[in-house]
Amino acid sequence: MNILTIETTCDETAAAVVTDQLAVLGSSVASQDELHRPFGGVVPEIASRAHVERILPVIDATLAQAGLKPSQLDAVAVAHTPGLAGSLLVGLSAAKALAIALRIPLIAIDHLQAHVYACRLAAGREVFPCIGLIVSGGHTSLYRCLSPLDFTLLGGTIDDAAGEAFDKVAALMGLPYPGGPAIEAAARSGNPRAFSFPRPFLSDRSRLEFSFSGLKTAVRYQIQPPGEPARTEPLAAEYVADLAASFQEAVIDCLAAKSLAAISESGLRRLCVGGGVAANRALRRRLEAECAGRDIELHIPPPALCTDNAVMGAIAVEQLKAGRFASLELDAFPAARR
Ligand code: KG4
Ligand code: ZN
Repeated sequence: MNILTIETTCDETAAAVVTDQLAVLGSSVASQDELHRPFGGVVPEIASRAHVERILPVIDATLAQAGLKPSQLDAVAVAHTPGLAGSLLVGLSAAKALAIALRIPLIAIDHLQAHVYACRLAAGREVFPCIGLIVSGGHTSLYRCLSPLDFTLLGGTIDDAAGEAFDKVAALMGLPYPGGPAIEAAARSGNPRAFSFPRPFLSDRSRLEFSFSGLKTAVRYQIQPPGEPARTEPLAAEYVADLAASFQEAVIDCLAAKSLAAISESGLRRLCVGGGVAANRALRRRLEAECAGRDIELHIPPPALCTDNAVMGAIAVEQLKAGRFASLELDAFPAARR
């Protein structure tokens, strides 16, 4: 069976064709980074308009890669939650139109579950049950994942998401959007102990929560102390490197500590990490070191499967096997379900 998967939750327009055996026949991602860069973050209206322009060419390119005609598709799956309302609606409309025109079933994808499922695809074998850490531009959450479709929220950020903090702090330092890769690159030549930034809840192991808003403010005050005249010169490269490295280290300390706390609380021995921030090499190295020392099985997909893509929509195969199909009434749910 061939399943077309569609992803338009944020600022990537993506489609893939996967089989019920989890083979990937085609995959395309059209990034909108260049459209949002002048604004230092995703502008929802620009994102949805760009999805409208790109969705059909992306689907065509994916089908061409797979060597399939639309009539050879057996189902169409679409991420309908969580995400930007306008962006979700574009993918949803395209998927429904195909389902009607081709008379094939529609499958609803939860984007956060799909991020964790990317670990299943990358591993090539079962990774459930596990603790799922989702670190993206919109979410930073820990889940107990008993199966691909059975998630319980254990805790998450009480303010900014980790990726959002990377993007906002990058803007403060004069680095381009998206901030994550730019900060990672700048941090390589910096000293992670140059500045002591806050790590909220770190010592309270009973709280599986994150907070990155105060960290962002701390970086801001380091660059521009309150009451001092505004800086007019761009920041020196060495200063930016130290700020980036110290900020990144603070984020990684929090993500690693809370993931380990969730693992010990749950009794599970597997950690699956997904979302754009999971592409960060320093985070990957830290989690590898922490998990290896504690006999915890760690799964982090290759970077292209961490950032938004439609291949991870292969979670639709699990829905298909469970006989869970969506009706044409399927709606977009911008907020994450708890
Ligand atoms: O999962 P994703 O592609 O989209 C959402 O669902 O939000 O995540 C995008 C986020 C952005 O905030 C971006 O700055 C961050 O992931 N990101 C990174 C890296 N690559 C992308 N953060 C840290 N280090 C990276 N290498
Ligand atoms: Zn995502």
